[in-house]
Amino acid sequence: MKIKKICCIGAGYVGGPTMAVIALKCPDINVTVVDLNKERIAAWNGPLANLPIYEPGLAEVVAEARGRNLFFSTEVDKAIEEAEMIFMAVNTPTKTKGEGAGMAADLRYVEACAKNIAQVAKTDKVVIEKSTLPVRTAEKIKEIFDREGKGVHFEILSNPEFLAEGTAIQDLFKSDRVLIGGDETESGQKAVQALVDIYANWIPKEKILTTNVWSSELAKLASNAMLAQRISSINSLSALCEKTGANIDELSKAIGMDHRIGPKFLKASVGFGGSCFQKDILNLVYLCRHYGLDEVAEYWHQVIKINDYQKERFAQKIIDHFGGDLTGKTIAILGWAFKANTNDSRESPAIYIAEKLFKAGAILEIFDPMVSPKIIWNDIKNYWKVEKETDFKAKIYISETISDATNKSDGVTLLTEWEEFKKIAFLEKAVFDGRNLLKNREINYVGI
Ligand code: NAD
Ligand code: UGA
Repeated sequence: MKIKKICCIGAGYVGGPTMAVIALKCPDINVTVVDLNKERIAAWNGPLANLPIYEPGLAEVVAEARGRNLFFSTEVDKAIEEAEMIFMAVNTPTKTKGEGAGMAADLRYVEACAKNIAQVAKTDKVVIEKSTLPVRTAEKIKEIFDREGKGVHFEILSNPEFLAEGTAIQDLFKSDRVLIGGDETESGQKAVQALVDIYANWIPKEKILTTNVWSSELAKLASNAMLAQRISSINSLSALCEKTGANIDELSKAIGMDHRIGPKFLKASVGFGGSCFQKDILNLVYLCRHYGLDEVAEYWHQVIKINDYQKERFAQKIIDHFGGDLTGKTIAILGWAFKANTNDSRESPAIYIAEKLFKAGAILEIFDPMVSPKIIWNDIKNYWKVEKETDFKAKIYISETISDATNKSDGVTLLTEWEEFKKIAFLEKAVFDGRNLLKNREINYVGI
């Protein structure tokens, strides 16, 4: 089976960059990325400087492939009809209502996609789970195809994405591994091979791992859980360092030099953020409970609890530094993105820390080099439980430069690991370094 036309449903942080790279590396394949969000698609088709996602190297890839064999469109049905292979890269947030609310993954977007594909497809399709999904979701998708389909054959593969934001393009160019799960039937293996052939255009064969569907679905959740677990482990030890006089950076280095442990993902922080770690672990916890594995569920839940504890502990330290009340104090919030080199603020620790400081009476001066003021205001509106907008609008300022944010402030918090924050000298201002960024720590320095 030689694929000539691909469609990807969902033009977000995963769909956009992954499809741009496939199009770049496979000039013979036409790739159409579709989304219901008109504004997002317009931005993908607009000036390269204003793509909807900021990722180093992304604009260059889009510049080369867009209009050649990479297209962005809102015509979902047309793209489904024409494609032989369809990626589903829609969002799978934590459920907010119904059974499993607050824990389980909300599969309504994936189910809507599957229904859409089933109703529109007039020829056989390979359908790929690119979104992160609970193990055994392929079974549910198959039920939808069987119920809603028009007699054509659908082959479901799992091909989870492991890119990290901020390094997405490099991660896609040089993936540690590409994981493809498929059925062991003849048609299943044919579909797996068709996807292997696409990745083999730039990924060495030994890095393309094929498994059954369930291993592939679960490996994605497990990988994120293991990565987050390392952060919670080191963060839990940062609290013990504080009590004992040990230094968390020295500890990370000493631990990470053991090649069996390795140095990555041992950077203590104010807590991990991002749209996936928390939701995927909660989903894993929910699945374990569903299968009656309460001890296993509790083990993984602890990773989230330590992350919440770390954010809380850091915010409380700032409040304690000012004697338990921040009324009349101005605090600069440097960094709103959940990590450096992205404009994404989903689940960013900054949202939580800023809320806690604000509710303790502080005036806030917020600065981030990439997150737009519109997004910052939306985050505040959507995630803080403040009764009236006027309550916060008068006491929060979004600054255009670091110095605007810090000049009048009594304290400065560093919440994202942006390179430019490492170079600032704050002299005698109180500095709360949630990312262990500063080497020459000054008099009023408070770390994690
Ligand atoms: P996102 O919210 O940025 O993008 C999802 C897009 O899907 C949105 O633009 C939305 O409008 C669109 N969409 C939803 N339902 C649709 C439908 N029925 N038809 C057409 N478009 C529809 O999400 P994301 O960050 O790209 O994540 C997508 C999936 O990939 C999630 O499951 C996530 O867990 C997983 N993932 C994300 C990352 C990451 O770095 N963000 C990395 C690996 C895996
Ligand atoms: C993470 C995984 O790294 C990806 O492999 C995965 O594909 C993705 O989730 C996903 O499924 O969405 P991402 O969240 O984009 O990627 O970024 P990370 O680099 O993993 O950082 C996550 C958070 O952990 C950030 O807030 C970061 O600052 C924090 N972090 C990371 C630490 O606090 N310490 C560390 O040592 C590393």
